[in-house]
Amino acid sequence: MQVNRLVLSQMRRFVDVTLEPRAGMNLIVGDNGAGKTTFLEALHLMAYGRSFRGRVRDGLVRHGEEALQVFVEWQEPGSDGAPRSRRAGLRHSGQAWQGRLDGEDIDQLGTLCAALAVVTFEPGSHALVSGSADWRRRFVDWGLFHVEHDFLGLWRRYARALKQRNALLKANASAAALDAWDVELAQAGEPLTSHRQHYLDRLQARLLPLAGQLSPSLGVQSLEFSPGWRRQEVSLADALLLSRERDRVAGYTSVGPHRADWSVRFASGMGREALSRGQAKLTALAALLAQAQDHAQEKGDWPLVALDDLASELDRHHQRRVMDWLAATPAQVFVTATEVPAALAGNVQPAAVFHVEHGQVDPAV
Ligand SMILES: Nc1ncnc2c1ncn2[C@@H]1O[C@H](COP(=O)(O)OP(=O)(O)O)[C@@H](O)[C@H]1O
Ligand SMILES: [Mg+2]
Repeated sequence: MQVNRLVLSQMRRFVDVTLEPRAGMNLIVGDNGAGKTTFLEALHLMAYGRSFRGRVRDGLVRHGEEALQVFVEWQEPGSDGAPRSRRAGLRHSGQAWQGRLDGEDIDQLGTLCAALAVVTFEPGSHALVSGSADWRRRFVDWGLFHVEHDFLGLWRRYARALKQRNALLKANASAAALDAWDVELAQAGEPLTSHRQHYLDRLQARLLPLAGQLSPSLGVQSLEFSPGWRRQEVSLADALLLSRERDRVAGYTSVGPHRADWSVRFASGMGREALSRGQAKLTALAALLAQAQDHAQEKGDWPLVALDDLASELDRHHQRRVMDWLAATPAQVFVTATEVPAALAGNVQPAAVFHVEHGQVDPAV
């Protein structure tokens, strides 16, 4: 997909600003605090329902205003192969929101998230490797949400059943009452886990060559999936039954896909604790790009790729390799930087450079 117009109103420092990106690499430059990251946040908001720097209520709405608005117009391949124009709008106050997609009101934010696909690498992205398992589950589930049509339904069913089971455990409910929800959890949780397993298998096949190309010395060797219970030995239904008495004491469900995780194995044998911040970043970036590539293969269209402050996150050699890799794809890319990165001075030329200053943006190609 390719964005032609991005309009932000009352978002962070901007009153009203329009960006008209080109196909290929779009560089957004400006001083610290100019508002560069805000453009990436606006795309991310449409694609995830929140910014990578927090929810709308965490300060995305311009001080003194009631709500922000984001409007995106893009093109994507239609079912007949011809380009299809699409547009999405979101007004969000932090509590209430209204959204529109292709001229129609929508009643779930997820509808926007399903329409616009963005992969973002930003200064907090190392958490994908070194942070809590929540990050890694969300990462996998995002990929599946876009690619597997039944995934969201399974995920919702599982989440609902989990909530019910936990409430019953706390209330010390009867075995019969718990039985019904264990069945439901297993019926949603088993196929959900198969999806995750397949996704990670596929991702590993993409990640290994990609990581080797971006950073051979990292020695990324494999992706290991932990489904959230001892799946090799027992079914989810049995695992739930086996942990029932322990779960009653704890007051929550201790096994199942909500406890799933995955990790990257390195040739050196080091674990996630031993990784430097820089290594964690590179690994996270490789995983995100592998995810973008996977999305492109499965959907026949590249997601947008947003790289916040790339030059301060990676050394020049790694920036160069990332830029070269991206330049060889048809992906539309958004990169923010305080100045034109050295990695972009050579063979990879940005399609457009935007200067952000005084709450305005000037295209200067
Ligand atoms: N809710 C807000 N209302 C008004 N200004 C804001 C708000 N949140 C952030 N800002 C301002 O927006 C700017 C931050 O934008 P950001 O996109 O992070 O800049 P950059 O990435 O260029 O450093 C800062 O100048 C900050 O003071
Ligand atoms: Mg920034």
